[in-house]
Amino acid sequence: MNREKVQIFDTTLRDGEQVPGCKLDTNQKLLIANRLDEMGVDIIEAGFPVSSPGDFLSVTEISRIVKNATVCGLTRAVKNDIDVAAQALRYAKKPRIHTGIGTSESHIVHKLNTTREDVITRAKYAISHAKSYVEDVEFYAEDAGRTDNEFLARVCEEAIKSGATVLNIPDTTGYCLPEEYGAKIKYLRENVKGIENVVLSCHCHNDLGMATANSISGAINGARQIECTINGIGERAGNTALEEVVMIFKQHPYLNLYTDIDSKQLNEMSRLVSESMGMIVQPNKAIVGANAFAHSSGIHQDGVIKNRATYEIMDPLDVGVNESSIVLTARSGRAALAYRAKKVGYELSKVQLDAVYVEFLKFADIKKEVLDDDIHQIIEVCKVYSEL
Ligand code: KIV
Ligand code: ZN
Repeated sequence: MNREKVQIFDTTLRDGEQVPGCKLDTNQKLLIANRLDEMGVDIIEAGFPVSSPGDFLSVTEISRIVKNATVCGLTRAVKNDIDVAAQALRYAKKPRIHTGIGTSESHIVHKLNTTREDVITRAKYAISHAKSYVEDVEFYAEDAGRTDNEFLARVCEEAIKSGATVLNIPDTTGYCLPEEYGAKIKYLRENVKGIENVVLSCHCHNDLGMATANSISGAINGARQIECTINGIGERAGNTALEEVVMIFKQHPYLNLYTDIDSKQLNEMSRLVSESMGMIVQPNKAIVGANAFAHSSGIHQDGVIKNRATYEIMDPLDVGVNESSIVLTARSGRAALAYRAKKVGYELSKVQLDAVYVEFLKFADIKKEVLDDDIHQIIEVCKVYSEL
C-alpha cells in the first residue's frame, strides 16, 4: 500500500503565540519561521495580520524570508481582514489566506448573533474575496467539533464551490473524543460533494488532553493536513503538539502516513520556542520534555541497561537527544549505580558495589537525585570507612 503524506501546518506563531503572557518580537518570529522552514514544515501560519501593526509586520517579513513553505495569514470572514492579510502576504512565494467563521449553534447564537444562512453567506463571500488575491484559500469552520455534521457538510460544500482549497475542521474547544472527531472527518468525506478535490485539515485543541489523539484519528479517517504547534503551546490548554504527530507517524509505519519533518531537529526546535517565548516545557512532555528519555526506577533502569528497547519505543537520536539518561534516585538499583559509577571512572566489584550501594541509599534519601559529583563523594566516604 502506498504511503500518503500528511502536511504539517505549523501555527506556533499564530495560535501558539496566543498563549497568555507570551510575546515574541519580529526578530524572534523570523528566527522561528526560518527554522520551521528548514525542519520541513509545509505551511507556516505566520500570524493574524489585521490584529496589530506588529503582527502585520511579522507576516510581511516572514513572507520575504521563507524559502520552501507556504506562508499563511489568518483572517475572520471580514473584507478588511482579508485585504490586510493579502497585503501582508504580498512577498510570499506561496501565499495562503486562512479565513473562516463559527458554525456551531453556540457560536452562531451567542457570538455572532445571527442565523445559519447568514453564516453561509459570509463564508462564501470571504472565500471568494480571498480568492481574488490568492489561489490557495483555506476555510475554517470554527467550533466544527461541536457543529452538527449535517450543517457542517453544507458549509463545507458551499466553501468548496466558492473556491476553498483546504477545509479546516477545528475542534476549537477541545471537546471531541477521538472516535467522534475521526467519524466527523469520515462523514464529511462521504457526504460533501467535491471533497476529493480539497485537503481536509485537523485543528485540535487540548482542553481534555486529546488534541493529538483527535488529530491522528482525523488523519486515519482521511484528513491530510494537521495544524499543530511546537511543544503544543496555544490558547488555554494548547494545540496539537507537532513533535507528537511527527513521531506517532514515524513509530507506527503501518498507518502508511508520513510527514516531511526532519525529526532530528525536534529537540532543538522545542528549546528555541520555549526559550524565545519564556514558556517552560513540562519535564514529562512527550518527545521533548527533559524526562522523556530519563529512567529513574530500578526495574526500568535494569531493563534499559540490558537492552534499550525494554522501556524505550524511540531512539533518542531520532528526535535530536544524544542519549537517554539513567537518573540515580533512592528508587534506583545496583545495576544503575554500577552503570553510572563506571561512566565516571569506577569499575566496582560485587562486594564493593554492595558497600557503595548502602551509602548511596542514605545519600539518595536526602538528596533525591544523585549526580556524578555525588558518586565521587559517596565512594570517598566508603574509602574512609575502608569498605573499598
Ligand atoms: O481553534 C480554532 O478554531 C482556530 C481557528 C481560528 C482556526 O484557531
Ligand atoms: Zn485554534
